[in-house]
Amino acid sequence: MVTIRNGMMKDCTDLLEVYQGTRWFYRTKQGGYTTVEQVKDEHRGAAFERWGWLVAEEKGKVVGEIVIRAEKNPVSGKVGIIRNLDIDVRNQKSKIGTNLTRAAENVLRKKRAVRVVATTPPAAYNYWMKVNYFARGSIMNISLSTAKVPVIKSTKIKIVQLKGQEKLPKSMRFSNIAYPGSLAELTARVINGELRGNLIEYYSDGRLMGVGAIAKSNSKNAEFVADVTKRGTPFADFILSRTAGMARKWKVRKVKSTIPKDYLGVYTAFARWSSEVSTDIPVTRLL
Ligand SMILES: CC(C)(COP(=O)(O)OP(=O)(O)OC[C@H]1O[C@@H](n2cnc3c(N)ncnc32)[C@H](O)[C@@H]1OP(=O)(O)O)[C@@H](O)C(=O)NCCC(=O)NCCS
Repeated sequence: MVTIRNGMMKDCTDLLEVYQGTRWFYRTKQGGYTTVEQVKDEHRGAAFERWGWLVAEEKGKVVGEIVIRAEKNPVSGKVGIIRNLDIDVRNQKSKIGTNLTRAAENVLRKKRAVRVVATTPPAAYNYWMKVNYFARGSIMNISLSTAKVPVIKSTKIKIVQLKGQEKLPKSMRFSNIAYPGSLAELTARVINGELRGNLIEYYSDGRLMGVGAIAKSNSKNAEFVADVTKRGTPFADFILSRTAGMARKWKVRKVKSTIPKDYLGVYTAFARWSSEVSTDIPVTRLL
């Protein structure tokens, strides 16, 4: 019998074993998942929601988990985001993934999400098809030499740098033209102290026009995510270029982002970004 319930910190001991099977290809630089503490860290940061953590327990042992969050989208309504789904390799193909996915959808429905999105590696793509998700669009990895980020001017927009945040700011809990969840994920890594970076809000006449997060990934690169509100759409080139341009102070060679392919034109309108389609695939289901 498999029970689905909310996750607890003490489950991280069992989850370490689960991750060691499913995520051997992650964290390679740090040497893979070796400690329970690494697993615990993933269940507390700024992007983590207590309500969004479900585990599957069988014979007193946790054999799978799903982690979800939700954010607003000004055009299509509230979107549920599956941050990860991991089933112990010894328990796969016995419907535990399906059970956790359906339980997570029920939680998201109660949070009034109208659809749910997940980002899948090619190896798990067929699983999502079996549970009635469909592929929607593609993800692009884009990059630009820091020196080539244009300096666009605007007298209408006021730039506010956020300092001393402990929680995900409300303005970062949404996605419009950014890939769902990507702004929150990068913002959380900055807030959690994992990466050095900046969080920015852009205002015009006291109204929020957009937001941005940028962080130094290593000595050569910076990564950023920027988004605009509906009202901020006419200022997209300013908001995106200003956020990306903050990489200059770290003297990194390149600035990178991961965006929905549908919005590539918003970026190429103001600079010559290099782009390639990601091997990860966005999948979605209406609730
Ligand atoms: C992908 C994953 C979550 C599936 O969990 P699971 O418990 O094995 O899935 P289920 O048993 O509920 O499978 C439902 C259906 O999908 C099929 N399926 C599951 N994984 C599959 C895969 N990798 N490739 C093809 N089909 C797959 C099952 O055979 C089953 O088909 P059926 O209805 O015809 O019997 C699990 O394999 C896993 O943890 N993988 C590693 C981490 C990962 O990639 N997570 C997803 C990233 S978002």
